[in-house]
Amino acid sequence: MLDSVHGPTSYTSGACAYRRKAVIGDCTLYLADCERILPTLEHMSAVVTDPPYGIGASAGVGKYGLMKWGGHADLKWDDAAPSPEVLDTILRAADYHIIWGVNYLPLPPARCVLVWDKGACFRNRYFAEAELAWTSLDRPVKIFTRDPLARKDYHRGRDHPTQKPVQLLDWCLSLLPAGCDTILDPFMGSGTTGVACVKAGKRFVGIERELRYFEAACRRIGEARQRPSLLDVGRV
Ligand SMILES: C[S@@+](CC[C@H](N)C(=O)[O-])C[C@H]1O[C@@H](n2cnc3c(N)ncnc32)[C@H](O)[C@@H]1O
Repeated sequence: MLDSVHGPTSYTSGACAYRRKAVIGDCTLYLADCERILPTLEHMSAVVTDPPYGIGASAGVGKYGLMKWGGHADLKWDDAAPSPEVLDTILRAADYHIIWGVNYLPLPPARCVLVWDKGACFRNRYFAEAELAWTSLDRPVKIFTRDPLARKDYHRGRDHPTQKPVQLLDWCLSLLPAGCDTILDPFMGSGTTGVACVKAGKRFVGIERELRYFEAACRRIGEARQRPSLLDVGRV
């Protein structure tokens, strides 16, 4: 399942920009700060990513902590959104881009914003009824409807507090122009973009700073390669 794992166990001052590297089929996963490693990577067809929004979701989703998510409050992964400089590096890393959280990020106007309509279960509650992605695609606004509560995407045992449904990422990949075969996710979390890339037969490079989520991504992507027919149900 895991073809190779190598790398130093801690940052070194110069040469090595990652703490660990895992190669799983056509997927290469880095345990690293994307700021350090992005300049060392090859140019990719597309970035498909879901960065931290800087709203403190790691301490409890929403700033009032209405939905404490057991066991992960020690990780401060959502304290800050990526800076304009990091976003600029990410935009230069690929030809096309799909970046979730546009309402929290300093990005320019876009023709094609993607809307994830979360459906009836999210109407008139504290939480957002939809999520928005910025894209550099030359097409009209697109809407994907999937109710994560009704579809049981937010089940106990998921690997990341803001884990996206695999089906949402399947849809994102389907919107990219033909020939977009190498996909980068610099904020991969539990590797949902990578799972969708395995399903779609695309090469994937993922970067994650937290060991717990990096290990979850390795496991999920390995499982996706072994059991593609089970991808739409259960843990993935
Ligand atoms: C919103 S979450 C992504 C969740 C993902 N979409 C999923 O389905 O699991 C953003 C992730 O980016 C990671 N992160 C934050 N800053 C980072 C950085 N500078 N480099 C790499 N990863 C980072 C966080 O640890 C967090 O897991």
